[in-house]
Amino acid sequence: MPLHVGIIMDGNGRWAKKRGLPRTAGHSQGAKVFKKTVEWCRELGIKYATFYAFSTENWKRPKEEVDAIMSLLNKYLDDIRKMSQKNTRIIFLGDKSAFSDDVAARLTEIEEVSAANDGLYVLVALNYGGRDEILTAAKKIAQEYKSGKISIDEIDETAFEDYLYTKGIPPVDLIIRPSGEQRTSNFLVWQAAYAELVFMDVLWPDFSKKDLTAACEEFMSRNRRFGGV
Ligand code: IPE
Ligand code: IPE
Ligand code: MG
Repeated sequence: MPLHVGIIMDGNGRWAKKRGLPRTAGHSQGAKVFKKTVEWCRELGIKYATFYAFSTENWKRPKEEVDAIMSLLNKYLDDIRKMSQKNTRIIFLGDKSAFSDDVAARLTEIEEVSAANDGLYVLVALNYGGRDEILTAAKKIAQEYKSGKISIDEIDETAFEDYLYTKGIPPVDLIIRPSGEQRTSNFLVWQAAYAELVFMDVLWPDFSKKDLTAACEEFMSRNRRFGGV
C-alpha cells in the first residue's frame, strides 16, 4: 500500500454541468465525497492523505464561484475539525494569509487541536501551489543565510524540505487525479518527484471507495525504481 496518497479533487464543475446544476452544487457534493474519502483512507490503512482543495491559481475564477467556495469552506472546516476526534492529525498546506482573519485563525486552531494525534494524517491543500511553496521556502532560506543561521553547505535536500509546508511528512507515493485531465496542476511539485500517477475518468463527486481501491491496486502493480535498476 502507498504510505502517502495525494488526491486532486477535480471535476466538480463538470459534474454539476452534466446535471444542469450550478457549478457550486458540484463543489458542495465534492465536499461530501472528501469527507467519505478520508474514512476510506482510514479503512485502507493509508497513513498520509493529502487533498488538493483550492490552488493558488483558483482565485482567477469568477468572483461568484470563489465566494461560493469560500462560504463552503466554513462547512468543510466543521467536518475537518470533527475528524480530530478520531486521532486524526490535520495540517493545512498553503498560504493562510490570503484568507480572512477568521478563517486563518480557524485553520490554525484545527491544526493545534489535532497536533498530538498520530493516527491518520489528513493534509488539506488550500491556497496551495507547488511553485509558491518552493519559492516561499527559498526566500526563508535566503533570510536565514543572510542572518547567519544557515550556511550554503548545509542546504541539502533534507534541510530544504524543512522549509516546505510538508515539513516532516514523507514524499507522496501515489497521486490520484479524477476528472480525466492528465496533469498535476501545481500539486506537490517537490514532493511528487517520484510519485506514481493514476488518472481516472470519474468526476470527483462520483468518486467511490472502489475507485480509491483500484488506484491503490494500480499503484501496487507498478515497479518503482527511483532511478535504480
Ligand atoms: C475542482 O473542480 C474544485 C476546485 C478546483 C476548487 P473544478 O471546479 O475544477 O471542476 P471542473 O474541472 O471545472 O469540472
Ligand atoms: C486543480 O484543479 C486544483 C484543485 C483540484 C484544487 P483545476 O481544475 O484548478 O486544474 P486545471 O485548471 O484543470 O489544471
Ligand atoms: Mg478543474
